[in-house]
Amino acid sequence: MKKLFILAALLIAAVFMISTVIMAQAAEKPKFTYVGEKSCKMCHKAEFDAWSATPHAKAYAALKPEEQKKAECAGCHETGKTAADSLLVNVSCEACHGPGSEYKKATIMSKAKFAADKAAALKAATDAGLVIPTAETCTSKCHKKEGNPNFKEFNWEAMKGKVHPIAAATPPAPEKK
Ligand code: HEC
Ligand code: HEC
Ligand code: HEC
Repeated sequence: MKKLFILAALLIAAVFMISTVIMAQAAEKPKFTYVGEKSCKMCHKAEFDAWSATPHAKAYAALKPEEQKKAECAGCHETGKTAADSLLVNVSCEACHGPGSEYKKATIMSKAKFAADKAAALKAATDAGLVIPTAETCTSKCHKKEGNPNFKEFNWEAMKGKVHPIAAATPPAPEKK
């Protein structure tokens, strides 16, 4: 009888340990993944065309082949891994706007929903991973001195309109629509 009790206790302990490991592995999986700028282009062609002509769209090619392999260089010159584990190069849309696997869905990026209640639509999109870039998101990730051998002083107000035309700041000024 005592043997059976010990066996049961061991079994419970083993199940507990295995489930902890599985949960830890699940937690390591990123919630949102990168989908690539072509997924945004179909709905945001003006931003795509403008971005394509900027240094952000050529940031990876600016590195020499051996530098592309170095983590200390590539981080700010690429966007990240896609769900298929292929590398998304350059400073693509999602480097600034967050990985788009969820928010790119037409149910979230819906003209009707943004028109009906912009704040609510924006909340749903940011909950799904969308980032509205700010001076802080730019300077904490990339436009900073540490690690950047070509650092140039970064003036957010002067620079933000250069990545692609920005119709109105988000959230828009109250008098604008
Ligand atoms: C199915 C079409 C569609 C796709 C795909 C899509 N979007 Fe959108 N997106 C919209 C619509 C519609 C809005 C609502 C505002 C508007 O009408 O432009 C929006 C809003 C946004 C906003 C907020 C705009 C604001 O008014 O503040 C950002 C930023 C954005 N999209 C970025 C992206 C990025 C980056 C991708 C690719 C990962 C993407 N979108 C993919 C249609 C789309
Ligand atoms: C912290 C982010 C960051 C890291 C790390 C980084 N870079 Fe950059 N790099 C930038 C930014 C941002 C620019 C654009 C210039 C600027 O505004 O500072 C840039 C520009 C460049 C350019 C283009 C210069 C020009 O003006 O045309 C080259 C070449 C370059 N980086 C090489 C490297 C190499 C080599 C490494 C690794 C030793 C590296 N970068 C690491 C952020 C970074
Ligand atoms: C280097 C960073 C950066 C990249 C790359 C970038 N954006 Fe943006 N995007 C911004 C900033 C900054 C804003 C303005 C945020 C605000 O409202 O103040 C913005 C705003 C937007 C908006 C809101 C619409 C508007 O006109 O106000 C959309 C839509 C958008 N981006 C789509 C895209 C798409 C699609 C791409 C890729 C083709 C892209 N962005 C690439 C930084 C970036």
